[in-house]
Formats: sequence, structure tokens, C-alpha cells
Amino acid sequence: MPRITTLEDLFVEELKDLFDAENQLTRALPKMAKAATAPELKEAIEEHLEVTKQQVERLTQVFAEIGKPAKGKRCEAMKGLITEGKELIAQDIEPELLDVGIVGAAQKVEHYEMAGYGTVRSMATILGHKEAAVLLDQTLKEEQEADKKLTMIAKKYVNVRAMKSGEEG
Ligand SMILES: [Fe+2]
Repeated sequence: MPRITTLEDLFVEELKDLFDAENQLTRALPKMAKAATAPELKEAIEEHLEVTKQQVERLTQVFAEIGKPAKGKRCEAMKGLITEGKELIAQDIEPELLDVGIVGAAQKVEHYEMAGYGTVRSMATILGHKEAAVLLDQTLKEEQEADKKLTMIAKKYVNVRAMKSGEEG
């Protein structure tokens, strides 16, 4: 790997990480949506899949904006988060409890992305990449919204069902 000597270099490296993270996520979200049982949760994940595809597109725009090729670099963190999600789905678990776990797994992903986009947005601003900063801020806001929506779904539907699930049997 080439030596990173400038903030610009580091900025590009961080973008590559996010680009790969988002691409990994577009492949993982359909499996999570399929595993979720609460319709509200399933729908929210499917909706975020579409948003994620647009975010990949937006990152391509950011690369174009700074005159760099749109390339990814294996994001080990996203890989780990997705692996944990898959392990959860593979487990012998009550569907209502699986939903609670899926919300948690999805929120871990969102928080990772929020940290990543917050970082690159700050870098873009300080480097004078105004357009890139606007685009990255847009995605950051979408990730925050997705996170809030997951919290809402957990409180309103998923957690309530999980509490009741043990009572019936
Ligand atoms: Fe994303």
C-alpha cells in the first residue's frame, strides 16, 4: 500500500472504506429483510436497501468530484458486523426475539456508517471539497434517519412483541 502523506490521501482511503462498506451492505440487507418477521421491520430494511444503493451512487459522485477513481478497499469492520448479523439469523431463536436482534445488528451498522461519514464530511470541509462535503452530509443525514426509524420501530412494535412472545407459550 502506498504511504499516506497528506490529509487528502487519508480522505481517499476513508472513502474507499465506505465505498466497500456500502457495497457489502447492499448484498447483506436483502438477507436481513428476509429474516425479519415484523412487517414494519422488513419494510424499513427493504427501504434502506434502496437508500444504500443511492449512497453507493453518491460516493461515486464524490470520487468524481475530487478527481479520483471510485474504488473500494475491504472494510473489515462492515464485514465483521455483517458476519455477526448472519450468525444471529442462523441461530435457533424465537422469531420475535430475532427481530429485536436484527434491529440491534442494523443499528450497529448505522452507527459505524455515521462515524465514517461524519469523519469524511469533516475532512472534505477542511480540504475545501465543498461539493463532496455536501454529498457526504446528505448521506450522513440519511444514516441518522435510518437509525431513528429503527429505534421507533423497536419501541413501537418489535420490543413489545418480544415481551409478549414468552407469555403465550
Ligand atoms: Fe449507508
